[in-house]
Amino acid sequence: MKNYDIERHVTGESQFVDDIITPEGLLYASVCYSGKAHGEILRIDLSEAEKVSGVKVIFTSKDIPGDNQIGGIVPDEELLAEKEVEFIGQPVAVVVAEDQLSAREAARKIKVDIKDLPVITDPREAYKAGQLIVPPRTFNLGDVDNNWNECDYIVEGTVESGGQEHLYLETQGAFAYPVEGGGIKIVSSTQSPTAVQRVTSRILNLPMHKVEVDVLRLGGGFGGKEDQASAWAAMAGLAAFKLNRPVKLILPRQEDMRMTGKRHPYSSDFKIGLNKEGKILCYEATFYQNAGAAADLSPAILERTLFHCTNSYYIPNVKATAISCKTNLPPNTAFRGFGGPQGMFVIESAIFKAAEKMGVDPTEIQKKNLLDEGDEFPYGQRTENCHARITWQKAEEKYSIEKIRKEIKEFNAKNDIYKKGIAFMPICFGISFTNTSMNQASALVHVYTDGSISVSTAAVEMGQGVNEKIRQVAAKVFSVDIERVKTETTNTTRIANTSPTAASSGADLNGKATERACQYILKQLKEVAAEILEASSITHVKIIDEVVHLDGKKTELRWEELIKTAHLKRFNLSSHAFYATPGIHFDREKEKGRPFAYHVYGTAIVEVTVDCLRGIYKFDSVKVVHDFGKSLNPLIDKGQAEGAIVQGLGWMTIEEVIYDDNGKLLTDALSTYKVPDIHFTPNIEVDFLEDSENPWGIFKSKAIGEPPLMYGIGGYFAIMNAIKAFRPDRQFKISAPFTPEKVLMNLYSKKVEEKQSV
Ligand code: MTE
Ligand code: HPA
Ligand code: MOS
Repeated sequence: MKNYDIERHVTGESQFVDDIITPEGLLYASVCYSGKAHGEILRIDLSEAEKVSGVKVIFTSKDIPGDNQIGGIVPDEELLAEKEVEFIGQPVAVVVAEDQLSAREAARKIKVDIKDLPVITDPREAYKAGQLIVPPRTFNLGDVDNNWNECDYIVEGTVESGGQEHLYLETQGAFAYPVEGGGIKIVSSTQSPTAVQRVTSRILNLPMHKVEVDVLRLGGGFGGKEDQASAWAAMAGLAAFKLNRPVKLILPRQEDMRMTGKRHPYSSDFKIGLNKEGKILCYEATFYQNAGAAADLSPAILERTLFHCTNSYYIPNVKATAISCKTNLPPNTAFRGFGGPQGMFVIESAIFKAAEKMGVDPTEIQKKNLLDEGDEFPYGQRTENCHARITWQKAEEKYSIEKIRKEIKEFNAKNDIYKKGIAFMPICFGISFTNTSMNQASALVHVYTDGSISVSTAAVEMGQGVNEKIRQVAAKVFSVDIERVKTETTNTTRIANTSPTAASSGADLNGKATERACQYILKQLKEVAAEILEASSITHVKIIDEVVHLDGKKTELRWEELIKTAHLKRFNLSSHAFYATPGIHFDREKEKGRPFAYHVYGTAIVEVTVDCLRGIYKFDSVKVVHDFGKSLNPLIDKGQAEGAIVQGLGWMTIEEVIYDDNGKLLTDALSTYKVPDIHFTPNIEVDFLEDSENPWGIFKSKAIGEPPLMYGIGGYFAIMNAIKAFRPDRQFKISAPFTPEKVLMNLYSKKVEEKQSV
């Protein structure tokens, strides 16, 4: 698995925020946060904290020179709480000290007197109390209400899905220092340098041009640093600005886990109607999103739940409503899949329950309802180059599905305690930010006089390999050795007004912008070459592998010489270019449009073995035919798919975020929150769908970052099928994560779930 950063990571040379060589006079910041989930702040007593030696200053909301507001979509979140706290972990004060330990000790010694107010942690309860983040949204297709009587089977049910901790290896943090003229420079671990710049400038009441944000790379983001990196950067910025000293703020792991939001838990209702043949005619769903105490990105995540509520199926009559509920938990945020997984889990659950009712295998219903070319999604877009059926078919063929089924049957017949289960999981994921305006990026390319190339874009490297892909783009356009190309830090002074690196679109958007910038310089270079070679026009010249060719024939003119000459002849060797995805739009009044440039498809087969005496399980394999388009970098893409699959399985099975009724996070350490490790990881086989070329992607590739996470949903149903083999008489509740504990309870608890209504 070799890409750009690998050697540096392995040798420990790679730098993260906490590794940057810091200037003299560095101070350390630590955050004091609310210990109550809801209450009125009566008093903040700093006296004991101030006595800790080494403490310089303690900042509270009163010290903020600008607007104490960090909300991105909705202005509903203070940087430091003023009068009220709304979740445990909400920042109240920032201690700045000469050393890290003193800062942390002092933060613990701050006393915040809080008068308790009622705490709500459940989204349905919040809904009943009228606590919504934004008004509900509904997507409609066909006419659900008038088609239930066409259905032979109708099944209703409830589905729960849990949160998920991002667990990026590098915790949240930033390093800020003052620069001349009253400005601030911030090195931040953020997916969105512009968001950090905007928030900090608002907090400090500075024009954006006085706040420079620089990002080298992240030790993972997974969506957790799309919106939630800004607060820490703004706090470090505030301290640096007020004290005129460099300040570093790095969250310790446990504070990171307590203070930051996670994947949104959802509680959902469904009603699905099918005819005798297993065609789904009607589908109705209501999603209660547990948003936490502030909007953060919840409205956008809610929207993507609706976009993906029918996954890769065509359903003629759909009504889906999504409700963002305000609770007293840390604001939940972007997480790989961005609400899509939660929507897909519900339709898969509905199909599973319908199959149970009809007495058929769920795969029969899944297969029968897969999207075909030209089918309409509930949001008005139609499929183009639809690969839903082909990936399913290829998966059946490649992995000899009949043989697998036979083996499982035999195994289950022979074994009393151990049971194997299998599930198919098809996916269809839309690529583009659902907010059309965000689909833009730019690139700044310099060719230096020695022939080396520097590329700056809006893309943030977080382990997903986007830098390597950008290098490939530049190397390919110029037809030079990739070693000549260096990607620079992501910096708001070089590349302005950036969208976050998110929505799996980093390589697409920034790759396209890079291609354009390189093409401009290439044109200049061809003009120089045509002049030197006395060609009548640039159409006669071409650079192939660093050598200029004239009418298809090699010349003596090589890359380095060409660049030197271009400079002497005073040609421009730098270019900035902009890219905005064409052809996308969405009307939020009508809830119709063409929000996505394209869709990513694939089909996974997940196999599991469950120990039905103990409730524990082991995933045997995940086999996937995935549509990568024409992969730009198969090794990176395969790594992305594998990582996402394991992360998806973790979300569905062993990763359990638990808050108590007072809103306190109980799973706030790696001893209580279990993530997949190498022992958990099954054999994963990822095969590339052949002959797929994506006209919308960079060099015909497709985005890869998020879609494969949703194959993990198959893990849930593979377990379901295994335990059904053990207890065919039972119906099981659908509530992810399906921890071993829950598997056991389902198998042996007295209370059998009420029969599904018909
Ligand atoms: N891979 C690694 N190693 N680390 C990450 O933080 N984030 C994921 C995905 N893959 C992530 C990752 C998420 S949530 C997204 S949106 C995409 O990468 C973002 O990068 P891209 O747009 O370049 O694919
Ligand atoms: N996906 C991921 N991140 C986002 C999106 C999206 O559609 N919109 C805003 N941030
Ligand atoms: Mo990814 S959740 O769009 O950062």
